[in-house]
Amino acid sequence: MTDLADIEAGYLKAIEGAGSLQELEDIRVRAMGKKGELSLMMRELGRMDPEARKLRGQALNDAKDRIAAALNTRRDAMEMEALNARLETERVDVTLPVMPERQGSIHPISQVMDEVAAIFGAMGFKMAEGPDIEDDFHNFSALNIPPAHPARQMQDTFYLGGGDSGEPRVLRTHTSPVQIRAMEAGAPPFRVISMGRVYRSDWDQTHTPMFHQVEGLVIDRDTHMGHLKGCLESFAKAFFEIDSVKMRFRPSYFPFTEPSAEVDIGCRRDKTSLIIGEGNDWLEILGCGMVHPNVISAVGLDPAEYQGFAFGMGIDRIAMLKYGIADLRGFFDADCRWLGHYGFDALDVPTLTGGLSR
Ligand code: DAH
Repeated sequence: MTDLADIEAGYLKAIEGAGSLQELEDIRVRAMGKKGELSLMMRELGRMDPEARKLRGQALNDAKDRIAAALNTRRDAMEMEALNARLETERVDVTLPVMPERQGSIHPISQVMDEVAAIFGAMGFKMAEGPDIEDDFHNFSALNIPPAHPARQMQDTFYLGGGDSGEPRVLRTHTSPVQIRAMEAGAPPFRVISMGRVYRSDWDQTHTPMFHQVEGLVIDRDTHMGHLKGCLESFAKAFFEIDSVKMRFRPSYFPFTEPSAEVDIGCRRDKTSLIIGEGNDWLEILGCGMVHPNVISAVGLDPAEYQGFAFGMGIDRIAMLKYGIADLRGFFDADCRWLGHYGFDALDVPTLTGGLSR
């Protein structure tokens, strides 16, 4: 009969060399299953005399225990190896950037507002706000547009019923009333911009009844037209992300500025695109001028002491120019395909140092 120690050593060696959980199970059955080698040896104990049975039984039990322990140890090791291998294939790198398939995006109007705010913010302008529903005084009279003034016809105003005072209210036709509100609310010097929705009864390929403007105002004791030009030139370079920009100030008329100008920037069209800042064509981008003395008086300041400049610019328009968007109406269709194409990544915040766009 083979010595028990040899049998045990054989099983321990087999366990050691087993390559799968199934092989381990086979070994277990061969050793300790119902008809396993050790189980059969147990059955022979009955034929032995008591003294020998005790010794042999003890030895068999000890051998079975050791084989069972070896099986368990090997099984645990195999399961741990399998788990590690699976974890390796399912590894997740949490430092990777957000998944590229974006669901939401920033509307180009919001993007351009953020860019404009970043540029003027860096120049030291503060943000001012005013209501979309304005009174006649702020939208017109205080801006040197008295009731019978022909300039009221320049803008196709949406009139609303009178407020408590009976004074007619309007959907603001421009962001210029925020100049008045900012000056009423503080003390000079002023350096503010304001952005938001404006409304006019107008609807065709290049006009929508609601659109967006940015207004700028600088009032101090010595502010002059040179400051206006420098400010707008810096803005145009930063906004269009170009090193130099051709600009022209064309004499114009606005009731709230004197002198007034419209500003064009140079551009060139090649077959497929519009190049901004150079070339022999011109694009109008804004209206501006030196704030009219009557406007300074309307907020209770002395025009002999304070002066400054103002400008107003269409946000939709500069967004179309910068991002090559041909039709204004797409801005307001809320079409997901359009937004998917023209929208911006939600986590890219425009900054002058980090990059304004993309
Ligand atoms: N409010 C004018 C408009 O809507 C734009 C404008 C022109 C604003 C000249 C200004 C300015 O502040 O000085 O057409």
